[in-house]
Amino acid sequence: MPNIDLHQLELQVVDIAREVGNIIREKRESYQPVSIEEKSAHNLVTEVDKLAEKLLTEKLSKAFPGSGFLGEEGADISSENGYRWIVDPIDGTTNFVHGLPLYSTSIALEKEGELVLGVVNHISMDRVFHTSLGRKSYCNGVEINTSSQKVVDTSLMVTGFPYHEKQLDQFLDAYKYLIRNSRGVRRLGSAAIDLCLVAAGHFEAFYEVGLNPWDVAAGALLVQNAGGKTSTLAETDDYLHGKSIIASNNHIHRELLDILHQFIEV
Ligand code: IPD
Ligand code: CA
Ligand code: CA
Repeated sequence: MPNIDLHQLELQVVDIAREVGNIIREKRESYQPVSIEEKSAHNLVTEVDKLAEKLLTEKLSKAFPGSGFLGEEGADISSENGYRWIVDPIDGTTNFVHGLPLYSTSIALEKEGELVLGVVNHISMDRVFHTSLGRKSYCNGVEINTSSQKVVDTSLMVTGFPYHEKQLDQFLDAYKYLIRNSRGVRRLGSAAIDLCLVAAGHFEAFYEVGLNPWDVAAGALLVQNAGGKTSTLAETDDYLHGKSIIASNNHIHRELLDILHQFIEV
């Protein structure tokens, strides 16, 4: 397995995320919603998602030859060096289609299942969040940290509702409880941005079910390296493939899990 300079690679990936982000932004400016497909009911994909994934595959493979690739739009390349990119070219496609400035590109690198690098470009805000193993988390080069709020009652949280999910009613019951017993629960529509905003201390926590590895891989490492905690709702570490995640500032993790468990079967 090659020895790589992760910090150097992190900075290269920041540049790649910016280059591809600029193309996504230009495409949005001249966007004609002619080629929106529904992958499944209400789950959208556009030609821009596919173009961005193609560009990312090319650029990331050039930056680190031999690494594998898993992308939401179908890229699936096996690794020759033990490393694999996990990429969501546009996280928040519904927002993109509707012109809401809440969409991002999420790029993570894993080494034999362990996350070692994470970059999320919140495109319309010109904010690139980045981190790698053994480092802090940064936004445009400036260190970020999770918040110091200690209890749910004074916390602001963010969540997402699944496209298809038997647990929707349970989620809505938990949501109702939290609306009454916290500073609120937002729903932005890009899990990668949600996680960055936990890492940067704007939200105390994020929770959602039904997500895929490309939605959460980069953002989860950003939360961890900013001082936060990540787990599944079932309190295991497999938030990448376990299809549920809670990411918090650490302080409210236990209390929020206990609240969610009152309503949601895990
Ligand atoms: C979606 C976003 C959204 C989440 C959905 C995801 P996409 O990703 O992350 O916040 O609620 O479950 O599928 O489809 O826009 O890449
Ligand atoms: Ca996504
Ligand atoms: Ca996507």
